[in-house]
Amino acid sequence: MNKMVSFLRCVILARVVAAQSDLAFDYVIAGAGTAGLVIANRLSANPSISVAVVEPGDDVRRDADVQTVDFLFSSFNTSINYQYPSITSPALGSRNLTYRAGKAWGGSSAVNGMVYIRGDKAQYDAWEELGNRGWNWNALFASWKKGEHFIVPTKRKTASGVTFDEAFHGETGLLDLGFPLSLSNSSYYDKARATWGKLGVGPIKDLNGGTPHGFVTAPMTLDPQAAVREDSARAYYTPAESRPNLKIVKGTVKRITWGKDAGRLAVADGLEYVSPSNKLLKIRANKEVILSASAYRNPLILEGSGIGNPKVLNKLGIKIKVKLPGVGESLQDHNIVAMTYSLKEKFLGRIPYATMPTAQDVFGNNTAKIASSSLAKISEYAKHLSTTFDGAIPANAIEKRFRIQHDLIFKKNVTVAELFPTNTGDGILAQFWTSMPFSWGNVHLGSKDAIDSPIIVPNIMATDFDLDMLTAVGRLSQKAFATAPLSDLIADNLTPGYDTLPLDASDDQWARFLKGQVLNALHVVGSCAMLPVELGGVVDEKVKVHGTKNVRVVDASIIPSQSSGHTMAPVYGVAEKAADIILDGK
Ligand SMILES: Cc1cc2nc3c(=O)[nH]c(=O)nc-3n(C[C@H](O)[C@H](O)[C@H](O)COP(=O)(O)OP(=O)(O)OC[C@H]3O[C@@H](n4cnc5c(N)ncnc54)[C@H](O)[C@@H]3O)c2cc1C
Ligand SMILES: *[C@@H]1O[C@H](CO)[C@@H](O)[C@H](O)[C@H]1NC(C)=O
Ligand SMILES: *[C@@H]1O[C@H](CO)[C@@H](O)[C@H](O)[C@H]1NC(C)=O
Ligand SMILES: *[C@@H]1O[C@H](CO)[C@@H](O)[C@H](O)[C@H]1NC(C)=O
Ligand SMILES: *[C@@H]1O[C@H](CO)[C@@H](O)[C@H](O)[C@H]1NC(C)=O
Ligand SMILES: *[C@@H]1O[C@H](CO)[C@@H](O)[C@H](O)[C@H]1NC(C)=O
Repeated sequence: MNKMVSFLRCVILARVVAAQSDLAFDYVIAGAGTAGLVIANRLSANPSISVAVVEPGDDVRRDADVQTVDFLFSSFNTSINYQYPSITSPALGSRNLTYRAGKAWGGSSAVNGMVYIRGDKAQYDAWEELGNRGWNWNALFASWKKGEHFIVPTKRKTASGVTFDEAFHGETGLLDLGFPLSLSNSSYYDKARATWGKLGVGPIKDLNGGTPHGFVTAPMTLDPQAAVREDSARAYYTPAESRPNLKIVKGTVKRITWGKDAGRLAVADGLEYVSPSNKLLKIRANKEVILSASAYRNPLILEGSGIGNPKVLNKLGIKIKVKLPGVGESLQDHNIVAMTYSLKEKFLGRIPYATMPTAQDVFGNNTAKIASSSLAKISEYAKHLSTTFDGAIPANAIEKRFRIQHDLIFKKNVTVAELFPTNTGDGILAQFWTSMPFSWGNVHLGSKDAIDSPIIVPNIMATDFDLDMLTAVGRLSQKAFATAPLSDLIADNLTPGYDTLPLDASDDQWARFLKGQVLNALHVVGSCAMLPVELGGVVDEKVKVHGTKNVRVVDASIIPSQSSGHTMAPVYGVAEKAADIILDGK
């Protein structure tokens, strides 16, 4: 196409968009979060495609709490964080958990810890094994590299323990990935590396190539030159914001509006949203509706639109449009616990050194025994979970998913946990979490109009295996801080303290401690899982909601099973790949 024609097309397009104001667009996206803005950027790169994003949060790209790369939960308890309460989990007694997510352009990527870890190759190949053709490590690896702009670390950083393998990174993408500015110059890195080597989790060069098993500095989504956080608004919206065919509309999506069915498929014609002045408005979608409103909120939008489990919809008095019992089920998080240590000498700088062990590393000589005892109980775990889900997903479908997860842990030997320390200035916050629990929860709409209040049932620690795994990982963490040379730096265990949890603490002592302390890691996936309907799926491999012609879901909610590490990198990979699928028009 010559320049004149393309210039004229732009002018015409700008007029059309202006004339229609915010009434109609080709694609309408719910949520300008981590995934939503990737999709918005990639679709609107074609000037003949018009895109609107409906988002309740604001532009926070200049907010100091967002920009800071010294993440110590700076934006917690502020207006850019959702804080969703949960229903208690039986194993936790009366303790309720709080679920957090970002409410802003950039969504949770604007408030998170910025750590970028993809996980194990086999965990992604399992997505294909579960029935999603084309979704595997190799495909996602290409998407990650496409999205990434890796910033090669300076000599000073490599001297503080940064290693990397350029083959695992992309250099021409939009998302800056680098290493923290102020890595500690103390002897922490060398000592931790030596201790983990003794414990069988020796150093690796780079954890983003599909085999993260080891000890290594984790990269982060930040721009080290400018010293600011790289969230999806900065990475994906900033370069697209002058496009006349892209618009962010402030509002909270309530439901999908339906046009005339195409055969047996439901056809969306837009979204209904609540404006800042509390008006119910409609925005039309000429082509497709895409939900990227998070794992907490997409199920609420679907249920509000008549897509879900008839049992749930009937109770809410919502007319059924598409019967899809998996909506809101199989919400999967990581189980996280923290212990704190005081130092003989305090030091400055960050220590983002991730340790990712396998089942063999954490269970040692007990591995085979635990593998077989948990396998023997897997049908029981599946039955129990199916009951917890009120039968929404049959036990045999859950069992199939569980067996794949069990194989990942014990046959494919993926990493099963992450141990991640933070220098608080006063000491060390030693966090550890397990990656693939078998206790899953769910999230549903509580009443027809309560679109801001997901009812979250965490259901964590419901299997003895999850407790065994967390106990073993906790013991490994405790052992590391008591093993030389890392132990040379440590003055004492402050919480819970060696009185409460001695180095030879019994299983009962650990159980009491863990049940009192375990938290949801805020790495929530799975509530609109990409799976066949029989397995409890909500979207197909083209990320389209089963039973619909033109409703897609793209964000953490479609991730069918957990990976090791954190969930932002998986979300970016999913969003890049989904954008290709959508542009492909299938
Ligand atoms: C405090 C915290 C720390 C974390 N730390 C890390 C970390 O260090 N590393 C890591 O990898 N992961 C981390 N995570 C997890 C990671 O950030 C998320 O998994 C990921 O960002 C989720 O992306 P998403 O696109 O699914 O949802 P989000 O990024 O949350 O986007 C959802 C968007 O939808 C909007 N929205 C909600 N409801 C509606 C509605 N009804 N209509 C329209 N829009 C709506 C929201 O305002 C938001 O902008 C952390 C998460 C939190 C909360
Ligand atoms: C947020 O508020 C809670 C409850 O008031 C408090 O316990 C917590 O310390 C606060 N967190 C931060 C980071 O300010
Ligand atoms: C905690 O959960 C219980 C139900 O399990 C609920 O009754 C209670 O209101 C919740 N508390 C809070 C503070 O959300
Ligand atoms: C670490 O950096 C601090 C601050 O720049 C400096 O005072 C200290 O001497 C350094 N320590 C080492 C071991 O290099
Ligand atoms: C595991 O078994 C081997 C061989 O029997 C033994 O030498 C080793 O001490 C055992 N390790 C642990 C942690 O029990
Ligand atoms: C996984 O670990 C077990 C026990 O250590 C070993 O026998 C098996 O060969 C390993 N499998 C793979 C795929 O590495």
